[in-house]
Amino acid sequence: MSRAVCPGTFDPVHHGHLDVITRAARLFDEVVVAVGVNPSKNRLFDDDERIAMLERACADLPGVRVVGFTGLLTDLCAEQDAQAVVKGLRGPADFEYEARMAGMNSRQTGVDTVFLPTDPRWSYVASSLVKEVAGLGGDVRGLLPDVVHEALLARLAERAAQAGR
Ligand code: PNS
Repeated sequence: MSRAVCPGTFDPVHHGHLDVITRAARLFDEVVVAVGVNPSKNRLFDDDERIAMLERACADLPGVRVVGFTGLLTDLCAEQDAQAVVKGLRGPADFEYEARMAGMNSRQTGVDTVFLPTDPRWSYVASSLVKEVAGLGGDVRGLLPDVVHEALLARLAERAAQAGR
């Protein structure tokens, strides 16, 4: 049984993420989507919200399940008996960053990282940019599932109302 972990912060999940998860599910018998807590990131959605969004978005993908994780990714891979980590690469900047993490993870436990080139339709899409553009009133519809788009607009409106208080 081949098993891979697709890790990320997913704040929020967008179509670039889902494309990589879908393609990983064709390559491996099982894919564990691992929703991580990265303390250096200022999150808009809390852990439970991000996990619920992923569960909904991946509900129709066979062999895909979602877990939350803290701590080392390599520990999660060992726990899940996963042979590989799958990451999407949007371009050279992603490679610079991801190759260092892949090397460090491989050194820890020998877990390998498989890189999938991002579908060109989503090559410019990043959760941080989606939040920035939507927060400034720009249109991000179509870059993320409709239900996530609605949740994003609602959360941004809540935050704006709080800031205006
Ligand atoms: O959304 P991101 O920024 O691509 O997700 C990053 C994530 C969560 C995959 C990464 O920060 C991670 O693997 N965190 C777990 C902690 C860890 O193992 N750190 C050492 C990496 S070499």
